[in-house]
Amino acid sequence: MEKLAINGGRRLDGKVMLQGSKNSALPILSACVTVNGISVIHNCPDLTDVTAALKILEHIGCRIKREGHTVIVDSTDANRFDIPDKLMREMRSSIVFLGALLARFGAACVSSPGGCEIGLRPIDLHLSALRKMNTYINETGGFLECATDNLCGADINLAFPSVGATENIMLASMGSSGETVITNAAREPEIIDLADYLKSCGAEIYGAGQSVIRIKSGKKLHSAEHTIIPDRIVASTFMACVASAGGRIAVDGVCKEHLAPVIPVFETAGCEVSAKRNELVIKSPERVSRVKSLGTMPYPGFPTDSQAIVMAMLTKAKGTSVISEKIFENRFRHVPELIKMGADIRVEDGRVAVIEGVKRLCAASVSSSDLRGGCALVVAALGADGKTVVDEIHHIDRGCEAFEICLSQLGAEIKRE
Ligand code: EPZ
Repeated sequence: MEKLAINGGRRLDGKVMLQGSKNSALPILSACVTVNGISVIHNCPDLTDVTAALKILEHIGCRIKREGHTVIVDSTDANRFDIPDKLMREMRSSIVFLGALLARFGAACVSSPGGCEIGLRPIDLHLSALRKMNTYINETGGFLECATDNLCGADINLAFPSVGATENIMLASMGSSGETVITNAAREPEIIDLADYLKSCGAEIYGAGQSVIRIKSGKKLHSAEHTIIPDRIVASTFMACVASAGGRIAVDGVCKEHLAPVIPVFETAGCEVSAKRNELVIKSPERVSRVKSLGTMPYPGFPTDSQAIVMAMLTKAKGTSVISEKIFENRFRHVPELIKMGADIRVEDGRVAVIEGVKRLCAASVSSSDLRGGCALVVAALGADGKTVVDEIHHIDRGCEAFEICLSQLGAEIKRE
Protein backbone atom coordinates (compact mmCIF):
# COMPACT_ATOMS: atom_id res chain seq x y z
CA MET A 1 0.00 0.00 0.00
CA GLU A 2 1.48 3.34 -1.08
CA LYS A 3 2.17 6.04 1.52
CA LEU A 4 3.33 9.64 1.58
CA ALA A 5 6.39 10.48 3.69
CA ILE A 6 6.55 14.18 4.61
CA ASN A 7 9.34 16.00 6.42
CA GLY A 8 7.61 19.04 7.86
CA GLY A 9 8.86 22.54 8.64
CA ARG A 10 9.99 23.51 5.12
CA ARG A 11 8.53 26.83 3.91
CA LEU A 12 6.85 26.70 0.51
CA ASP A 13 7.77 28.94 -2.40
CA GLY A 14 7.14 29.02 -6.15
CA LYS A 15 4.26 28.43 -8.53
CA VAL A 16 1.97 25.45 -9.13
CA MET A 17 -0.39 24.82 -12.05
CA LEU A 18 -3.94 23.97 -10.98
CA GLN A 19 -5.65 20.84 -12.29
CA GLY A 20 -9.09 20.61 -13.87
CA SER A 21 -12.06 20.11 -11.54
CA LYS A 22 -12.89 16.52 -10.50
CA ASN A 23 -16.45 17.48 -9.58
CA SER A 24 -16.92 19.02 -13.01
CA ALA A 25 -15.19 16.29 -15.04
CA LEU A 26 -17.31 13.46 -13.59
CA PRO A 27 -20.81 14.79 -14.46
CA ILE A 28 -19.56 16.02 -17.85
CA LEU A 29 -18.16 12.57 -18.70
CA SER A 30 -21.54 11.08 -17.74
CA ALA A 31 -23.24 13.69 -19.92
CA CYS A 32 -21.30 12.45 -22.97
CA VAL A 33 -23.78 9.54 -23.06
CA THR A 34 -26.63 11.96 -23.87
CA VAL A 35 -24.81 13.03 -27.05
CA ASN A 36 -24.97 10.76 -30.12
CA GLY A 37 -21.53 11.87 -31.30
CA ILE A 38 -18.01 12.84 -30.25
CA SER A 39 -17.13 14.94 -27.19
CA VAL A 40 -13.64 16.39 -26.89
CA ILE A 41 -13.04 17.28 -23.23
CA HIS A 42 -9.96 19.37 -22.39
CA ASN A 43 -8.32 20.01 -18.97
CA CYS A 44 -9.63 16.66 -17.72
CA PRO A 45 -7.67 15.77 -14.54
CA ASP A 46 -5.78 12.45 -14.34
CA LEU A 47 -7.50 10.92 -11.32
CA THR A 48 -8.67 7.44 -10.30
CA ASP A 49 -12.29 8.69 -10.22
CA VAL A 50 -11.94 9.87 -13.82
CA THR A 51 -10.51 6.48 -14.81
CA ALA A 52 -13.52 4.82 -13.14
CA ALA A 53 -15.91 7.04 -15.14
CA LEU A 54 -14.11 6.16 -18.39
CA LYS A 55 -14.41 2.45 -17.58
CA ILE A 56 -18.19 2.92 -17.22
CA LEU A 57 -18.33 4.76 -20.57
CA GLU A 58 -16.42 1.91 -22.24
CA HIS A 59 -18.79 -0.63 -20.65
CA ILE A 60 -21.75 1.29 -22.11
CA GLY A 61 -20.14 1.01 -25.56
CA CYS A 62 -18.37 4.36 -25.95
CA ARG A 63 -14.93 4.62 -27.55
CA ILE A 64 -12.44 6.50 -25.39
CA LYS A 65 -9.12 8.15 -26.28
CA ARG A 66 -6.89 10.02 -23.83
CA GLU A 67 -4.21 12.45 -24.99
CA GLY A 68 -2.67 14.02 -21.90
CA HIS A 69 -5.46 16.04 -20.24
CA THR A 70 -7.74 15.74 -23.26
CA VAL A 71 -10.30 12.94 -23.31
CA ILE A 72 -12.22 12.09 -26.50
CA VAL A 73 -15.48 10.24 -25.94
CA ASP A 74 -17.23 8.79 -29.01
CA SER A 75 -20.68 7.71 -27.81
CA THR A 76 -22.10 7.06 -31.29
CA ASP A 77 -22.27 3.31 -30.73
CA ALA A 78 -23.21 3.36 -27.04
CA ASN A 79 -25.64 0.46 -26.67
CA ARG A 80 -25.97 -0.56 -23.01
CA PHE A 81 -27.93 0.99 -20.10
CA ASP A 82 -26.71 -1.25 -17.29
CA ILE A 83 -23.69 -0.53 -15.06
CA PRO A 84 -22.23 -3.48 -13.12
CA ASP A 85 -22.12 -3.10 -9.35
CA LYS A 86 -18.33 -3.38 -9.38
CA LEU A 87 -17.98 -0.23 -11.54
CA MET A 88 -20.67 1.67 -9.60
CA ARG A 89 -18.88 0.99 -6.32
CA GLU A 90 -15.57 2.39 -7.56
CA MET A 91 -16.98 5.89 -7.52
CA ARG A 92 -20.01 7.22 -5.66
CA SER A 93 -20.88 9.90 -8.17
CA SER A 94 -21.47 7.29 -10.87
CA ILE A 95 -25.09 7.81 -9.81
CA VAL A 96 -25.30 10.72 -12.26
CA PHE A 97 -25.06 8.22 -15.11
CA LEU A 98 -28.70 7.41 -14.18
CA GLY A 99 -30.11 10.59 -15.74
CA ALA A 100 -27.82 10.30 -18.76
CA LEU A 101 -28.80 6.66 -19.48
CA LEU A 102 -32.48 7.47 -19.12
CA ALA A 103 -32.11 10.38 -21.55
CA ARG A 104 -30.28 8.21 -24.12
CA PHE A 105 -32.02 4.84 -23.76
CA GLY A 106 -35.19 5.47 -21.74
CA ALA A 107 -33.87 2.87 -19.29
CA ALA A 108 -31.12 2.35 -16.75
CA CYS A 109 -29.99 -0.48 -14.45
CA VAL A 110 -27.52 0.53 -11.79
CA SER A 111 -26.78 -0.46 -8.22
CA SER A 112 -27.78 2.03 -5.57
CA PRO A 113 -24.60 3.86 -4.48
CA GLY A 114 -25.22 3.49 -0.73
CA GLY A 115 -23.33 5.48 1.85
CA CYS A 116 -19.60 6.35 1.96
CA GLU A 117 -16.97 7.49 4.44
CA ILE A 118 -18.53 10.93 4.93
CA GLY A 119 -22.19 10.10 5.41
CA LEU A 120 -25.35 8.12 4.52
CA ARG A 121 -25.77 10.09 1.29
CA PRO A 122 -29.33 9.07 0.32
CA ILE A 123 -30.52 9.68 -3.29
CA ASP A 124 -34.21 10.23 -2.48
CA LEU A 125 -34.17 13.66 -4.15
CA HIS A 126 -32.74 12.14 -7.36
CA LEU A 127 -35.37 9.39 -7.48
CA SER A 128 -38.39 11.54 -6.62
CA ALA A 129 -37.39 14.00 -9.36
CA LEU A 130 -36.95 11.26 -11.98
CA ARG A 131 -40.30 9.76 -10.99
CA LYS A 132 -41.84 13.22 -11.54
CA MET A 133 -40.35 13.07 -15.06
CA ASN A 134 -42.41 9.93 -15.73
CA THR A 135 -39.77 7.33 -14.84
CA TYR A 136 -40.77 4.00 -13.35
CA ILE A 137 -38.18 3.02 -10.70
CA ASN A 138 -38.00 -0.40 -9.09
CA GLU A 139 -35.63 -0.43 -6.07
CA THR A 140 -34.85 -4.00 -5.04
CA GLY A 141 -31.84 -5.58 -3.35
CA GLY A 142 -29.72 -2.46 -3.69
CA PHE A 143 -30.44 -2.23 -7.41
CA LEU A 144 -32.33 0.43 -9.32
CA GLU A 145 -34.21 -0.66 -12.45
CA CYS A 146 -35.51 2.42 -14.20
CA ALA A 147 -37.59 2.73 -17.35
CA THR A 148 -39.74 5.27 -19.13
CA ASP A 149 -41.66 5.18 -22.38
CA ASN A 150 -41.65 8.97 -22.48
CA LEU A 151 -39.49 11.21 -20.26
CA CYS A 152 -41.45 14.35 -19.56
CA GLY A 153 -40.33 17.80 -18.47
CA ALA A 154 -41.50 18.69 -14.94
CA ASP A 155 -41.47 21.41 -12.28
CA ILE A 156 -39.13 20.11 -9.60
CA ASN A 157 -38.67 21.91 -6.32
CA LEU A 158 -35.67 20.41 -4.48
CA ALA A 159 -35.97 20.19 -0.69
CA PHE A 160 -32.19 20.73 -0.55
CA PRO A 161 -29.95 22.22 -3.32
CA SER A 162 -28.31 18.84 -3.94
CA VAL A 163 -25.48 18.95 -6.50
CA GLY A 164 -26.00 15.38 -7.67
CA ALA A 165 -29.79 15.63 -7.91
CA THR A 166 -29.55 18.87 -9.91
CA GLU A 167 -27.07 17.20 -12.30
CA ASN A 168 -29.21 14.07 -12.71
CA ILE A 169 -32.31 16.14 -13.53
CA MET A 170 -30.34 18.24 -16.06
CA LEU A 171 -29.06 15.07 -17.74
CA ALA A 172 -32.44 13.29 -17.79
CA SER A 173 -34.07 16.39 -19.27
CA MET A 174 -31.75 16.05 -22.29
CA GLY A 175 -34.00 13.17 -23.37
CA SER A 176 -37.37 14.51 -22.28
CA SER A 177 -40.18 16.34 -24.01
CA GLY A 178 -41.46 19.68 -22.75
CA GLU A 179 -39.75 22.01 -20.28
CA THR A 180 -38.10 21.18 -16.96
CA VAL A 181 -37.82 23.81 -14.24
CA ILE A 182 -35.62 23.07 -11.21
CA THR A 183 -36.29 25.32 -8.20
CA ASN A 184 -33.80 25.47 -5.29
CA ALA A 185 -31.23 24.01 -7.64
CA ALA A 186 -27.57 23.66 -6.65
CA ARG A 187 -25.58 26.76 -7.68
CA GLU A 188 -22.06 25.32 -7.66
CA PRO A 189 -19.66 26.35 -10.49
CA GLU A 190 -19.63 22.70 -11.54
CA ILE A 191 -23.36 22.99 -12.36
CA ILE A 192 -22.62 25.95 -14.65
CA ASP A 193 -19.80 24.00 -16.29
CA LEU A 194 -22.09 21.02 -16.96
CA ALA A 195 -24.68 23.38 -18.47
CA ASP A 196 -22.00 25.03 -20.62
CA TYR A 197 -20.90 21.64 -21.97
CA LEU A 198 -24.52 20.63 -22.74
CA LYS A 199 -25.18 24.00 -24.36
CA SER A 200 -22.12 23.52 -26.57
CA CYS A 201 -23.84 20.28 -27.69
CA GLY A 202 -26.98 22.25 -28.60
CA ALA A 203 -29.02 22.09 -25.38
CA GLU A 204 -31.17 25.05 -24.25
CA ILE A 205 -30.52 25.71 -20.56
CA TYR A 206 -31.19 28.96 -18.70
CA GLY A 207 -30.22 30.03 -15.18
CA ALA A 208 -27.44 27.53 -14.35
CA GLY A 209 -25.66 28.89 -11.27
CA GLN A 210 -28.88 30.39 -9.98
CA SER A 211 -31.59 28.79 -7.81
CA VAL A 212 -33.97 28.33 -10.72
CA ILE A 213 -32.80 26.44 -13.80
CA ARG A 214 -35.04 26.19 -16.89
CA ILE A 215 -34.35 23.52 -19.51
CA LYS A 216 -36.12 23.48 -22.88
CA SER A 217 -35.90 19.87 -24.03
CA GLY A 218 -36.22 17.96 -27.25
CA LYS A 219 -33.02 19.30 -28.80
CA LYS A 220 -30.94 16.61 -30.58
CA LEU A 221 -27.47 17.00 -29.08
CA HIS A 222 -24.42 17.03 -31.36
CA SER A 223 -20.65 16.59 -31.07
CA ALA A 224 -18.78 19.33 -29.22
CA GLU A 225 -15.56 20.43 -27.56
CA HIS A 226 -15.32 21.72 -23.96
CA THR A 227 -12.67 22.79 -21.48
CA ILE A 228 -13.25 21.86 -17.84
CA ILE A 229 -13.06 24.59 -15.16
CA PRO A 230 -10.17 24.63 -12.67
CA ASP A 231 -10.54 22.73 -9.39
CA ARG A 232 -11.48 25.32 -6.72
CA ILE A 233 -11.17 22.74 -3.91
CA VAL A 234 -7.62 21.73 -4.88
CA ALA A 235 -6.78 25.45 -5.10
CA SER A 236 -7.97 25.90 -1.51
CA THR A 237 -5.90 22.84 -0.56
CA PHE A 238 -2.68 24.44 -1.85
CA MET A 239 -3.63 27.65 0.03
CA ALA A 240 -3.95 25.66 3.28
CA CYS A 241 -0.61 23.93 2.61
CA VAL A 242 1.29 27.25 2.49
CA ALA A 243 -0.64 28.64 5.49
CA SER A 244 0.41 25.56 7.48
CA ALA A 245 4.04 25.29 6.29
CA GLY A 246 4.72 29.02 5.92
CA GLY A 247 5.90 30.78 2.78
CA ARG A 248 4.50 32.39 -0.35
CA ILE A 249 3.16 30.60 -3.45
CA ALA A 250 1.32 31.31 -6.67
CA VAL A 251 -1.45 29.03 -7.90
CA ASP A 252 -1.79 29.33 -11.66
CA GLY A 253 -4.97 28.64 -13.61
CA VAL A 254 -7.48 29.54 -10.87
CA CYS A 255 -10.88 31.11 -11.39
CA LYS A 256 -10.94 33.86 -8.75
CA GLU A 257 -14.75 34.07 -8.64
CA HIS A 258 -15.03 30.41 -7.66
CA LEU A 259 -12.76 31.04 -4.66
CA ALA A 260 -14.85 33.89 -3.27
CA PRO A 261 -16.28 31.63 -0.50
CA VAL A 262 -12.80 30.62 0.75
CA ILE A 263 -10.48 33.64 0.26
CA PRO A 264 -11.99 35.62 3.21
CA VAL A 265 -11.36 32.62 5.51
CA PHE A 266 -7.64 32.64 4.65
CA GLU A 267 -7.53 36.43 5.06
CA THR A 268 -9.15 36.11 8.50
CA ALA A 269 -6.43 33.59 9.34
CA GLY A 270 -3.88 36.29 8.52
CA CYS A 271 -2.84 35.25 5.00
CA GLU A 272 -2.24 37.89 2.32
CA VAL A 273 -4.17 36.82 -0.76
CA SER A 274 -4.09 38.59 -4.12
CA ALA A 275 -5.55 37.31 -7.36
CA LYS A 276 -5.33 38.76 -10.82
CA ARG A 277 -6.57 37.19 -14.04
CA ASN A 278 -6.15 33.48 -13.32
CA GLU A 279 -3.24 33.59 -10.88
CA LEU A 280 -3.66 33.61 -7.11
CA VAL A 281 -0.77 34.55 -4.80
CA ILE A 282 -0.95 33.70 -1.11
CA LYS A 283 1.57 34.60 1.59
CA SER A 284 1.29 33.04 5.02
CA PRO A 285 1.57 35.00 8.29
CA GLU A 286 4.24 34.10 10.88
CA ARG A 287 1.45 32.24 12.72
CA VAL A 288 -2.14 31.84 11.48
CA SER A 289 -4.92 33.44 13.49
CA ARG A 290 -8.07 31.66 14.58
CA VAL A 291 -11.31 31.73 12.60
CA LYS A 292 -13.92 32.38 15.24
CA SER A 293 -16.82 30.54 13.62
CA LEU A 294 -17.06 28.80 10.26
CA GLY A 295 -19.97 26.74 8.88
CA THR A 296 -20.11 24.68 5.70
CA MET A 297 -22.92 25.58 3.28
CA PRO A 298 -24.05 24.95 -0.29
CA TYR A 299 -22.41 27.32 -2.82
CA PRO A 300 -21.85 30.29 -2.58
CA GLY A 301 -21.36 29.38 1.10
CA PHE A 302 -18.11 27.90 2.48
CA PRO A 303 -17.59 24.50 0.78
CA THR A 304 -17.76 21.35 2.88
CA ASP A 305 -14.95 19.96 0.66
CA SER A 306 -12.57 22.62 2.07
CA GLN A 307 -13.56 22.01 5.69
CA ALA A 308 -10.90 19.41 6.58
CA ILE A 309 -7.96 21.27 5.03
CA VAL A 310 -8.93 24.53 6.74
CA MET A 311 -9.29 22.68 10.06
CA ALA A 312 -5.77 21.30 9.62
CA MET A 313 -4.48 24.82 8.99
CA LEU A 314 -6.21 26.12 12.16
CA THR A 315 -4.68 23.48 14.46
CA LYS A 316 -1.66 25.81 14.92
CA ALA A 317 -3.63 29.08 15.03
CA LYS A 318 -3.52 31.67 17.77
CA GLY A 319 -6.77 31.12 19.67
CA THR A 320 -9.88 28.97 19.37
CA SER A 321 -11.69 28.26 16.09
CA VAL A 322 -15.11 26.62 15.72
CA ILE A 323 -16.14 24.74 12.57
CA SER A 324 -19.70 23.48 11.98
CA GLU A 325 -20.16 20.78 9.33
CA LYS A 326 -23.73 21.34 8.07
CA ILE A 327 -23.74 19.24 4.88
CA PHE A 328 -22.52 15.74 5.81
CA GLU A 329 -23.10 13.89 9.07
CA ASN A 330 -19.76 12.08 9.27
CA ARG A 331 -17.09 14.42 7.96
CA PHE A 332 -14.75 14.76 10.93
CA ARG A 333 -12.95 11.45 10.48
CA HIS A 334 -9.63 13.26 10.09
CA VAL A 335 -9.90 14.63 13.67
CA PRO A 336 -8.47 11.63 15.58
CA GLU A 337 -5.51 11.57 13.16
CA LEU A 338 -4.84 15.29 13.69
CA ILE A 339 -5.01 14.71 17.43
CA LYS A 340 -2.32 12.01 16.99
CA MET A 341 -0.14 14.85 15.62
CA GLY A 342 -0.70 16.93 18.76
CA ALA A 343 -3.75 18.95 17.68
CA ASP A 344 -6.26 19.95 20.37
CA ILE A 345 -9.72 19.37 18.85
CA ARG A 346 -13.04 18.58 20.56
CA VAL A 347 -16.03 17.37 18.51
CA GLU A 348 -19.54 18.07 19.81
CA ASP A 349 -22.55 16.01 18.54
CA GLY A 350 -20.52 14.96 15.50
CA ARG A 351 -21.14 18.24 13.71
CA VAL A 352 -19.18 20.94 15.56
CA ALA A 353 -15.41 20.95 16.06
CA VAL A 354 -13.70 23.26 18.56
CA ILE A 355 -10.03 23.71 17.64
CA GLU A 356 -7.74 25.11 20.33
CA GLY A 357 -4.67 26.32 18.44
CA VAL A 358 -1.37 24.75 19.57
CA LYS A 359 2.15 26.12 19.01
CA ARG A 360 3.57 22.98 17.45
CA LEU A 361 2.43 19.78 15.74
CA CYS A 362 4.58 16.67 15.87
CA ALA A 363 5.07 14.01 13.23
CA ALA A 364 3.12 10.72 13.40
CA SER A 365 1.92 7.78 11.32
CA VAL A 366 -1.59 8.66 10.26
CA SER A 367 -4.26 7.24 7.95
CA SER A 368 -6.48 8.91 5.33
CA SER A 369 -10.18 8.15 5.81
CA ASP A 370 -11.43 9.96 2.73
CA LEU A 371 -10.21 12.29 -0.02
CA ARG A 372 -10.39 15.66 1.77
CA GLY A 373 -9.49 14.14 5.15
CA GLY A 374 -6.33 12.69 3.56
CA CYS A 375 -5.39 16.09 2.15
CA ALA A 376 -5.87 17.61 5.62
CA LEU A 377 -3.26 15.22 7.06
CA VAL A 378 -0.76 16.35 4.39
CA VAL A 379 -1.53 20.01 5.24
CA ALA A 380 -0.84 19.32 8.94
CA ALA A 381 2.30 17.28 8.19
CA LEU A 382 3.84 20.14 6.17
CA GLY A 383 3.67 22.28 9.31
CA ALA A 384 4.72 19.59 11.81
CA ASP A 385 8.12 18.80 13.34
CA GLY A 386 9.65 15.65 11.90
CA LYS A 387 8.67 12.96 9.39
CA THR A 388 4.97 12.09 9.10
CA VAL A 389 3.77 9.04 7.15
CA VAL A 390 0.28 9.20 5.65
CA ASP A 391 -1.18 5.92 4.41
CA GLU A 392 -4.39 4.90 2.55
CA ILE A 393 -3.46 7.60 0.02
CA HIS A 394 -5.64 6.00 -2.67
CA HIS A 395 -8.28 8.31 -1.22
CA ILE A 396 -6.13 11.35 -2.15
CA ASP A 397 -5.48 10.03 -5.66
CA ARG A 398 -9.22 10.08 -6.26
CA GLY A 399 -9.21 13.88 -6.33
CA CYS A 400 -5.68 15.35 -6.38
CA GLU A 401 -3.49 14.80 -9.42
CA ALA A 402 0.21 14.14 -8.60
CA PHE A 403 -0.23 15.89 -5.25
CA GLU A 404 3.26 15.13 -3.93
CA ILE A 405 4.92 16.22 -7.19
CA CYS A 406 3.09 19.58 -7.07
CA LEU A 407 4.14 20.07 -3.43
CA SER A 408 7.75 19.08 -4.17
CA GLN A 409 7.78 21.76 -6.89
CA LEU A 410 6.88 24.23 -4.12
CA GLY A 411 9.81 23.07 -1.98
CA ALA A 412 8.08 20.54 0.28
CA GLU A 413 10.03 17.44 1.32
CA ILE A 414 7.46 14.83 0.38
CA LYS A 415 7.65 11.53 -1.45
CA ARG A 416 5.49 8.60 -2.33
CA GLU A 417 6.77 5.31 -0.90
C1 EPZ B 1 -21.21 16.66 -4.51
O1 EPZ B 1 -21.67 15.45 -3.90
C2 EPZ B 1 -19.68 16.54 -4.55
N1 EPZ B 1 -19.30 15.39 -5.33
C3 EPZ B 1 -19.14 16.39 -3.13
O2 EPZ B 1 -17.71 16.39 -3.19
C4 EPZ B 1 -19.56 17.60 -2.32
O3 EPZ B 1 -19.15 17.44 -0.99
C5 EPZ B 1 -21.10 17.75 -2.37
O4 EPZ B 1 -21.56 17.82 -3.72
C6 EPZ B 1 -21.57 19.01 -1.66
O5 EPZ B 1 -20.95 20.13 -2.18
C7 EPZ B 1 -19.26 15.51 -6.67
O6 EPZ B 1 -19.56 16.53 -7.26
C8 EPZ B 1 -18.79 14.33 -7.44
P1 EPZ B 1 -25.23 16.62 -2.58
P2 EPZ B 1 -23.23 15.08 -3.93
O7 EPZ B 1 -26.21 15.79 -3.34
O8 EPZ B 1 -23.80 15.45 -5.23
C9 EPZ B 1 -28.07 15.21 1.05
C10 EPZ B 1 -15.53 15.60 -2.81
O9 EPZ B 1 -14.85 15.55 -1.77
N2 EPZ B 1 -28.90 14.57 0.00
O10 EPZ B 1 -25.21 18.08 -2.82
O11 EPZ B 1 -23.35 13.68 -3.48
C11 EPZ B 1 -26.73 14.48 1.21
O12 EPZ B 1 -26.84 13.36 2.04
C12 EPZ B 1 -17.02 15.20 -2.78
O13 EPZ B 1 -15.10 15.97 -3.90
C13 EPZ B 1 -30.09 13.95 0.36
O14 EPZ B 1 -30.45 13.93 1.54
O15 EPZ B 1 -23.75 16.04 -2.77
C14 EPZ B 1 -25.85 15.55 1.79
O16 EPZ B 1 -26.03 15.61 3.16
C15 EPZ B 1 -17.44 14.66 -1.46
N3 EPZ B 1 -30.83 13.35 -0.61
C16 EPZ B 1 -26.38 16.82 1.12
O17 EPZ B 1 -27.69 16.52 0.64
C17 EPZ B 1 -30.45 13.34 -1.93
O18 EPZ B 1 -31.14 12.78 -2.77
C18 EPZ B 1 -25.50 17.30 -0.05
O19 EPZ B 1 -25.44 16.30 -1.02
C19 EPZ B 1 -29.24 13.98 -2.28
C20 EPZ B 1 -28.47 14.59 -1.30
